[in-house]
Amino acid sequence: MSRRLLVTHALPYANGPLHLGHMLGYIQTDIWVRAQRMMGNEVIFVAADDAHGTPIMLAAEKAGKTAEDFIAEIRTSHEADFADFHFSYDNYYTTHSPENGELASLIYTRLRDGGYIARRMIQQLYDPQKEMFLPDRYIKGTCPNCGTPDQYGDNCENCGATYAPTDLINPYSVMSGATPVLRDSEHYFFELSKFETLLRDWFAGKFTGGSPVMNSGVAAKLSEWLDGGLKDWDISRDAPYFGFPIPDAPGKFFYVWLDAPVGYLASFKNLCNRTGLRFDDFLSPDSDTELHHFLGKDIINFHGLFWPAMLHGAGFRTPTALHVNGYLSVNGAKMSKSRGTFIKARTYLESGLNADFLRYYFASVLGDTPVDADLDLKAFEERVNSHLVGKWVNIASRTAGFVQKFFDGRLAADFGPEEAELWQTLLMHYGDIDALYRSGEFAEVTRRFVTMADLVNGHIAAKAPWVLAKDESRREELHHVCSFALAAFRMLAGLLKPILPATVAAAEQFLDAPIVTFDDARAELHNHTVNPFEPLLGRIDPKQVEAMVEASKESLGAEAPAEPVKKKPKDSSKSMSTNTVSEPVATTTIGIDDFAKLDLRIGKVVACEFVDGSDKLLRFELDAGSLGTRQIFSGIRAAYGEPEKLIGRNVVFIANLAVRKMRFGVSEGMILSAGDGGSDLFLLDADQGAQPGATVR
Ligand code: 2FM
Ligand code: ZN
Repeated sequence: MSRRLLVTHALPYANGPLHLGHMLGYIQTDIWVRAQRMMGNEVIFVAADDAHGTPIMLAAEKAGKTAEDFIAEIRTSHEADFADFHFSYDNYYTTHSPENGELASLIYTRLRDGGYIARRMIQQLYDPQKEMFLPDRYIKGTCPNCGTPDQYGDNCENCGATYAPTDLINPYSVMSGATPVLRDSEHYFFELSKFETLLRDWFAGKFTGGSPVMNSGVAAKLSEWLDGGLKDWDISRDAPYFGFPIPDAPGKFFYVWLDAPVGYLASFKNLCNRTGLRFDDFLSPDSDTELHHFLGKDIINFHGLFWPAMLHGAGFRTPTALHVNGYLSVNGAKMSKSRGTFIKARTYLESGLNADFLRYYFASVLGDTPVDADLDLKAFEERVNSHLVGKWVNIASRTAGFVQKFFDGRLAADFGPEEAELWQTLLMHYGDIDALYRSGEFAEVTRRFVTMADLVNGHIAAKAPWVLAKDESRREELHHVCSFALAAFRMLAGLLKPILPATVAAAEQFLDAPIVTFDDARAELHNHTVNPFEPLLGRIDPKQVEAMVEASKESLGAEAPAEPVKKKPKDSSKSMSTNTVSEPVATTTIGIDDFAKLDLRIGKVVACEFVDGSDKLLRFELDAGSLGTRQIFSGIRAAYGEPEKLIGRNVVFIANLAVRKMRFGVSEGMILSAGDGGSDLFLLDADQGAQPGATVR
């Protein structure tokens, strides 16, 4: 039975160009949407730019533009990127729209009238010069824990300590340099704890006939938060703020994360207003349609706690499923501007690389769990060239010419016995492709594709049509093998269509046989006439990949960072750059005695893992020889996305630093690394032969 689905992906902030990290989850969504459509379901796919918030307001100001002009330009660039990567949206919109303003107000008023909004005075740091309240990330100062200067208002990059901005020593506003002052302000809170039962029911599949609403690992993480007690969520921000005013509260605006997910509905509403679609069909609580959200694992709290509660509290249905993806690394490390692996979607395209190639590579690393994916540029090149050009296109390029030359483009009226048998095998492999797509197992789809293509190529190689063609008495055999090959090529085109929309469209033209559903591609194409074959794809030239990396290096610092707003606004203010640790710092000289105070040692990493609840820290266990085992928390997670790979390395650490109690446990020393912080951190290594516990002098 055909289903009706409304599908969204997380909305990109309108503060910079899209990069390949964005594209991972977005491409995943488009592949899923296209596959659902090929299953015969009605899918409405909408997205939008996420246009509000302080960072965007300030970025516009810095660019000398109105916020409206600024976000409009970014939206144009995002839409161009999405079009060139072949996204199949029904609507792409912006959260800065009348529909969104109305829906956000409607949801807020219903929540307020339902008794779910509280008002409380809070104290917040205020920039008296800039005349605005400062989000934590716009305050810097000296770390109260380790004394490192120029640390952000919420945590220290050096020692990993987390604290309130009011704990900073000598705090200053990164916007004006002024010393912030504490001020009272009334804030509006969404009382999430009133939805605990609702959320538990939703997790348990009560609204989805028992079918899981998310991956079990994600559900476990959300349940932990639920078990820890849900806190009220601060949904208001004071003027000046680029966002929607709260209806009954002069000078107060909705926090960007309040109206961002509402933007999903607003984009859909805008579509409804232009078409015959009915909003209520998809949003009313008793709706038999489905609502699917694709998102990254960093924003599961917004989508898995606040959003279902807001929807329910305002009288709308809850989501059918959250599809959560992991982070993207490039060449095994976090994307880095200095290494040229912080690659913009536009830079990829401008390097002459085919958009479908990235879609294929991403499909080949995506499964049904939110694990991180790596874009290994060498593997990308090899996989695309081998699978798509070498295995798939090759099937047609080796056989289509004979079909034109000897049979006027007409395929045979039947297969030979061997082909008929192999066809059944192919059908067997093809059988549950739709189920694999439905559950998001795209890597398995590509593996299945390779298995099938290898079978077909094996048959072509065994039959050697180029030999048969020389023998007039074997025309029928030649006809059978080439006709089979082209029908099989088409079955594979059907399998690949959600992943390679543009390339498969060209294949459909060549075959003169459109593929609308997965079932269409099961046809044997007997007696069907195809068009002359033209090469569908060229191989990736390694130079294109090199050029892309080079171009990504060149763009360093030339433009505003494409980083999400929630990340540090590193380059967002001039005053900051004079204070960042990357600037040469005049230091006073020290005597050898001072140096001797440091007990630097070699530690062999025996364990290394992520720290639950921290996106900065890794937990190390070091074999420190005569000093025993040391546990050290180090803020280098952004630079080392695969902690287990560090096991066995010899690192240098300060052994006589006072032991420090952290939220996550005791840290017994500090591991040394070089670099500016964030993803640009490199562990110091000792040459082979250095023993655990050895002194560094
Ligand atoms: O994290 C982000 O990039 C946000 N702009 C995602 C918003 S998703 C939705 F809720 F709008
Ligand atoms: Zn510190």
